[in-house]
Amino acid sequence: MDLGLHGKRALVTGAGGDLGREIAAGLAAEGVDVALLGRDVGRLEATADRVRAAGRSAVIVPADLGEPDSMAEAVQEAREVLAGPIQLFVHAAAHRFALGKARTLSVATSEEHLRVDMGGPLALLPPLIEDMMASRFGRIVWIGSTAGRLGAGKSPVYSGIKAFYAGLVRNLAVDHGTFGITANIVEPSFIATSRFVERTDEASAARWAAATALGRVATPSEVADVVTFLCSARASYVTGAVIPVAGGADLNTLW
Ligand SMILES: NC(=O)c1ccc[n+]([C@@H]2O[C@H](COP(=O)([O-])OP(=O)(O)OC[C@H]3O[C@@H](n4cnc5c(N)ncnc54)[C@H](OP(=O)(O)O)[C@@H]3O)[C@@H](O)[C@H]2O)c1
Repeated sequence: MDLGLHGKRALVTGAGGDLGREIAAGLAAEGVDVALLGRDVGRLEATADRVRAAGRSAVIVPADLGEPDSMAEAVQEAREVLAGPIQLFVHAAAHRFALGKARTLSVATSEEHLRVDMGGPLALLPPLIEDMMASRFGRIVWIGSTAGRLGAGKSPVYSGIKAFYAGLVRNLAVDHGTFGITANIVEPSFIATSRFVERTDEASAARWAAATALGRVATPSEVADVVTFLCSARASYVTGAVIPVAGGADLNTLW
């Protein structure tokens, strides 16, 4: 199936992470040039290699989402190197917060988390939506989490931010649909990324796998494939949706 993405330009946040890398590579395989936003240039280089191996252009945009004032400049750099407006915005970055209950959180810790996961991505929206409106085509796909809908232990701010994302994209969808712009959330449960592996001991990993209907956690590419489809011309009538890619972790598996 031709996804109708050839020659489009994307900006992917968290592009040095395991999921962001698969998303960037998946888009490049469909003919997309990709701007890779993150802080760790070494990890972004590894993603750029995957994009170039698919025959597409990659530009590394080193930027800290915790500095929202620098986002317009990051978008401008992406436009200049990729030589045109950005039509696809995938937000896959997430603050690597320390797990903790709300009663143990300092205000400073919560503020930093909010700045990275809300301040940065929100600041990226105006210049990117401007590009999408000019192109009369746009795809906004942000990575949520079942934690935003079902809750999760020891991550109150993270869960709240992911719930905020769901409300935000519905609004973006309503406000920009007539410009050919769609906005959706992909909502994973557990993905076998290094972030997941580092934080999960063997017993917990087995418990999380058993909590799904499929009996296993997702691979990054299983989530990335859904993101690529939502970015495509083929997903033209899907907007304002929160799409679980959760292996049934949001179902009642107790029976
Ligand atoms: N893994 C799971 O089980 C799971 C489950 C549900 C949802 N998710 C979601 O899936 C997405 C990817 O998760 P992952 O497991 O691949 O996480 P990850 O490996 O930690 O990747 C997240 C990326 O976010 C970037 N990032 C963090 N803080 C940043 C900042 N201040 N400025 C710029 N970039 C920043 C990091 O890039 P740099 O290192 O370059 O700064 C990192 O590459 C996240 O949205 C996460 O919430 C994951």
